[in-house]
Amino acid sequence: MAIDLQQVSAVDVEPGELPKTMAAWVIREERFGEPKDAFQIEEIEVPEPGAFEVIVRVMAAGVNYNNVWAALGKPVSVMRYGDHPEFGHHIGGSDASGIVWKVGPGVTRWKPGDEVVVHCNQASYEDPEVHGLDPMAAPSQKIWGYETTWGSFAQFTKVQAQQLLPKPHALTWEEAASYGLVYFTAYRMLITRCNLQPGANVLIWGAAGGLGVFATQICSLAGAHCVGVVSSAEKGELVKRLGAVDYIDRGEFAGMMRKGGETPEEEKARFGVSRDFAKRVKDILGDAPDIVFEHVGKATFPTSVFTAKTFGKIVICAGTTGIDLDFNVAYLWMRQKEILGSHFANAYECTKANELIESGQIRPVLWRTLGFEGVAEAHQLMLENKHLGKISILVGADSEGQGKTAEGPGAIHAEVGA
Ligand SMILES: NC(=O)c1ccc[n+]([C@@H]2O[C@H](COP(=O)([O-])OP(=O)(O)OC[C@H]3O[C@@H](n4cnc5c(N)ncnc54)[C@H](OP(=O)(O)O)[C@@H]3O)[C@@H](O)[C@H]2O)c1
Repeated sequence: MAIDLQQVSAVDVEPGELPKTMAAWVIREERFGEPKDAFQIEEIEVPEPGAFEVIVRVMAAGVNYNNVWAALGKPVSVMRYGDHPEFGHHIGGSDASGIVWKVGPGVTRWKPGDEVVVHCNQASYEDPEVHGLDPMAAPSQKIWGYETTWGSFAQFTKVQAQQLLPKPHALTWEEAASYGLVYFTAYRMLITRCNLQPGANVLIWGAAGGLGVFATQICSLAGAHCVGVVSSAEKGELVKRLGAVDYIDRGEFAGMMRKGGETPEEEKARFGVSRDFAKRVKDILGDAPDIVFEHVGKATFPTSVFTAKTFGKIVICAGTTGIDLDFNVAYLWMRQKEILGSHFANAYECTKANELIESGQIRPVLWRTLGFEGVAEAHQLMLENKHLGKISILVGADSEGQGKTAEGPGAIHAEVGA
């Protein structure tokens, strides 16, 4: 049956009941490739909630880089993980705002009709790590809508009850769907992993990107000083508006990027540019950074290790330009720096971070809101680095501006082009 896109925002059942089928954007293994080809709309059976699970009607969904990776089938195929082998499809989407529609056995904190946002960490209730260490340490830990199917690019999504957070009242559906994955990741990286302190100096790569806009605001709120690296003056102005001391246009230091396979002469030249970059960072912050906020990976990691202050920390959650890093380890050991891996956040961190959104101290940065038909296009824009801040997708909401139940600062709408 062909999906009528005009009808996606409407459902003909009351909270507590589920329709038989729904519209969903689906990735399948045989279509792996650029997002514009890999994502297709299909009619899919609506799942029932199991124990401690909840079906949420998606009002808006947030776009993240992880489903660019899912579309490409790189660096790994998501089809090998989680519940993918059972269902044979990938419905992506690791951010959502919506309405609790049906709860499974055992759920007591939420009821049909509650307005929520969803954090994307799943782990089994039965794993001991969940109860005493950290759910991120559980063998069953997975990112919903990436390592699992039933993500948010569909009319309904299936989540664990512990993934639900109250929707911030002053945000519209699209604003509320836009921030969870990147903001909660940046929160754990800086607050938990690096113990960010007032007065600390921080270097943030990709500061106008999804992670970066939140890393910048967290630094500002914590009384830390940060400099953001970006690729245009417009992005730089956004980063300053979010509280950075200043920005650096990476175009001025293009020669510092590690490509791999450099000859000794090329490496010497590259290192010279890294040194100039480190000097610029120091000039802006008044000292070398105590923390380098990393996710670019291969291209920037040698510069990050070199630029961090003696005893400083390089915290990393991704390798967008490559995951095999090579760098001069002497700058690590001689100057006693630390490299810290970090991955998303636990439910408690998500809850604390979400309270800062409710109070308006941290604000989502929303670049574009697209209709349900825009899911493939949005991921293609991300792949091509043609976006700025976050992109939201309207699903149950039939226009922008709906869902706000209190006055407040709302999101920052980044109006400048990338
Ligand atoms: N492990 C986790 O829990 C987790 C969570 C969230 C995201 N991630 C990963 O983190 C990465 C970034 O996510 P995001 O949402 O922030 O993506 P994003 O919105 O695309 O932002 C990334 C930024 O990195 C910069 N960048 C891109 N290529 C670069 C290069 N060659 N050198 C220097 N900077 C470059 C770009 O900024 P400029 O062009 O302005 O420099 C871009 O805005 C992705 O790989 C994502 O999958 C991991």
